[in-house]
Amino acid sequence: MSLMIEGGRRLSGDLTVQGAKNSVLPILAACILSGDVCVLQRCPHLEDVDTSIDILRHLGCAVRWNGPDLEVDSSTLTRWDIPDRLMRRMRSSVVFLGAILARCGQAELSYPGGCAIGARPIDLHLSALRTLGACIREEGGSLNCTAPGLTGAEIVLSIPSVGATENAMLAAIGAKGVTTISNAAREPEIVDLQAFLQKLGASVHGAGTSTVVVEGAEQPLHGCCHRILGDRIAAATYLCGAASAGGEVFLRDAREEHLSAVTAVLREAGCDVQSGAESIRLRRDGPLQGVRPVRTAPYPGFPTDAQAPLMAALTRGKGCTVFVENIFESRYRHVDELSRMGADIRVEGRVAVVYGVPRLHGAQVRATDLRGGAALCAAALAAEGQSVIAEIHHIERGYEHLDESLRQLGANITRS
Ligand code: EPZ
Repeated sequence: MSLMIEGGRRLSGDLTVQGAKNSVLPILAACILSGDVCVLQRCPHLEDVDTSIDILRHLGCAVRWNGPDLEVDSSTLTRWDIPDRLMRRMRSSVVFLGAILARCGQAELSYPGGCAIGARPIDLHLSALRTLGACIREEGGSLNCTAPGLTGAEIVLSIPSVGATENAMLAAIGAKGVTTISNAAREPEIVDLQAFLQKLGASVHGAGTSTVVVEGAEQPLHGCCHRILGDRIAAATYLCGAASAGGEVFLRDAREEHLSAVTAVLREAGCDVQSGAESIRLRRDGPLQGVRPVRTAPYPGFPTDAQAPLMAALTRGKGCTVFVENIFESRYRHVDELSRMGADIRVEGRVAVVYGVPRLHGAQVRATDLRGGAALCAAALAAEGQSVIAEIHHIERGYEHLDESLRQLGANITRS
């Protein structure tokens, strides 16, 4: 499948931002802990959500859509293995490990492996689970895990890994006693996971800070109803699209406090950004300016997932911008594709220097990964003429109806 974009049109309109991919994925795994029915309101329709649903159904859970809500009944769970074909579809399936261990006392899954943006190791996940008492054998690409009795412990993460923090939180609920996770990731999606777990009846506190404390569940947990947090990266992507094309957009279900590092850079580049409690308005009239170096970092630093969309916006304008990608080792795969549109970008290892050009032109390009593909859309909105973006399955892993959303904002875009 491809997206065809006739660029050069200013954007104008308003949009309600989808539920957050990086919040709903760990919450779908956490449903296993309830042994009951959980209703996830405003669950986004994404490839990665479909993969998680297939995993839950493989484990024996009943899962069904009810309009915009997803209902997960994990009372019928019978299995504890995730087959390779499902692990390979979504490497972040590893977040199921902690939940399955806590519920079943054992788990079998294959090594998730790397992806387009990097090696994506899971050593921190495994060492956190081993600290809780799990016995994990890695053999021939498989992980055979047994945890006859998990025990609360002090876990110290050497990197504030989002996934490792989530896996440790979920496994710790099945452990006897108290677990403290230090140097925990502080992303808003971790806070949303904590809110969900508290609704199940679990005792989890501190999410959003570097120290999360989990008391092992002494009573069985129960189901709940939870509205998924708005997707701050999708919001950042639409803001960058509007910055790129020019015009004015109004986003609902977008909290500036969750993407302030991005809005600060967009303001510095010359955009007018105004925000309400749950909304953000961006207007861009004059040319964008280059900004001070953009260094990606764990939250609340500049999010690595917004690096490519922002880069796309800054390819056209005055001055130059230095990007330093500190989180993943291969996150500039969109650069060659942007260059086909006339962008002037030099990459040296983790550093990319973007020299603003007066104009971009439409081109045939292909999405290389999720956020890189979204960046190509943002650039195509500004490019003169038609762009065709191929391999959009990458984009559909994380953006719900991207073409419809951009059309709602005034873009001339068709999916074919
Ligand atoms: C989550 O990935 C997100 N994915 C990513 O979003 C996001 O880019 C990333 O966090 C950073 O914010 C989901 O939430 C599903 P990490 P995750 O563990 O958990 C290293 C997107 O586009 N590391 O915080 O895999 C790792 O290599 C995706 O939506 C280890 O060395 O990221 C990286 O350099 C992409 N060992 C750094 O830590 C480990 O055991 C941060 O990774 C784990 C991670």
